[in-house]
Amino acid sequence: MDFSLSEEQLMIQQAARDFAQNELLPGVIERDDEQRFPAEQIKKLGELGFLGMMVDSQYNGSGMDTMSYVIAMEELSKVDASSSVVVSVNNSLVCYGLETYGTEEQKQKYLKRLASGEIIGAFCLSEPEAGSDATSQKTTAIDKGDHYLINGTKNWITNGGTAEVYLVIAQTDKSKGHKGINALIVEKGTPGFDIGPKENKLGIRGSDTHTLLFNDVKVPKENRIGEDGFGFKFAMKTLSGGRIGIAAQALGIAAGAYELALKYSKERKAFGTEISNHQAIAFKLADMHTQIQAARHLVYKAAWDKDQGNNYDLSGAMAKLYASQVAMETSVEAVQIHGGNGFVKDYHVERLMRDAKITQIYEGTSEIQKIVISRSVLKD
Ligand code: CAA
Repeated sequence: MDFSLSEEQLMIQQAARDFAQNELLPGVIERDDEQRFPAEQIKKLGELGFLGMMVDSQYNGSGMDTMSYVIAMEELSKVDASSSVVVSVNNSLVCYGLETYGTEEQKQKYLKRLASGEIIGAFCLSEPEAGSDATSQKTTAIDKGDHYLINGTKNWITNGGTAEVYLVIAQTDKSKGHKGINALIVEKGTPGFDIGPKENKLGIRGSDTHTLLFNDVKVPKENRIGEDGFGFKFAMKTLSGGRIGIAAQALGIAAGAYELALKYSKERKAFGTEISNHQAIAFKLADMHTQIQAARHLVYKAAWDKDQGNNYDLSGAMAKLYASQVAMETSVEAVQIHGGNGFVKDYHVERLMRDAKITQIYEGTSEIQKIVISRSVLKD
């Protein structure tokens, strides 16, 4: 078993680390305060190939493996989870979904622009009454012959206001349950499609989260992804990979908080010595380091499974469940190690603590991951 990263993966890690320090760190506190979308930073990430990392070069992607993607996600998330969630949704939900299940025409028309970062996309599954219970879609997409007519509301949509292309999951035939659900590509500006209010959030405040409103939105049949009734499976299969991206984001938040706490503990003095010399702090750092390394192994294993063509539903769910828990615990401890300064925005750890929470909620809550894991364990 070889735990080392390849030359190429090390280069991607360094490039993402440099970008995070040089481009994401400046202004990250202000963007969080003002809930300002990192538009300039996302544009540059697109130019560098970070928005279509796993997409084939024929569709303007970078043609990399999932390992490279999670390595980049970790580095970007150490500094700015508001930016890294845009990278994650565009790569794992939108680009992956279109490249794997879209038609050639859809790839030419949408994927090429999404993978190059010319535009970004959004994935629209959650609804006011269908969050965890994703089969209970109330949004309808009624079959009208050559087009669908969409009506309903989607909630908490990442990139909700900034996306140009939306993958919308909606119910076409209620009598068929999850087999009556479709996934449709909706373009911004389609008549009847409105961007609702922006959410005022606890964390990832720089990201752009909106309610979306659909009122008799006409979508041509050629914008359906996959066969009629494939929409729920499309969402589940796509989310399985998305969970690896969010697990990597959680890992990055944890590692970022740990690195700040480690540095601070060697500078800050109390009782006549650096606080790292006190066992109370040293043991916290030991626990944090161990948990982060364990989370990293789970994230890498899930990415490796995907790259090998193995099933990654279980390994992705375990990686997300554990890494998000580590993100939460580690960032709370990082604030504690910083003491009073940890409660102050300038030291960054309070933001990482607020950002950590969403990793236990979006792309399937921790409780949903436990459903996926327990079902898998029990069926063996
Ligand atoms: N791959 C392929 N098919 C799958 C699948 C997977 N990973 N998981 C389930 N399915 C299939 C099942 O096989 C079943 O099909 P058949 O009847 O043909 O066998 C069908 O889907 C229904 O599955 P279940 O009976 O297991 O459905 P369920 O109602 O029990 O729900 C669930 C399963 C796992 C709980 C699912 O509802 C779920 O994942 N919920 C969470 C939704 C979620 O993650 N939302 C996140 C929103 S997106 C987001 O956050 C993006 C963002 O902006 C950051």
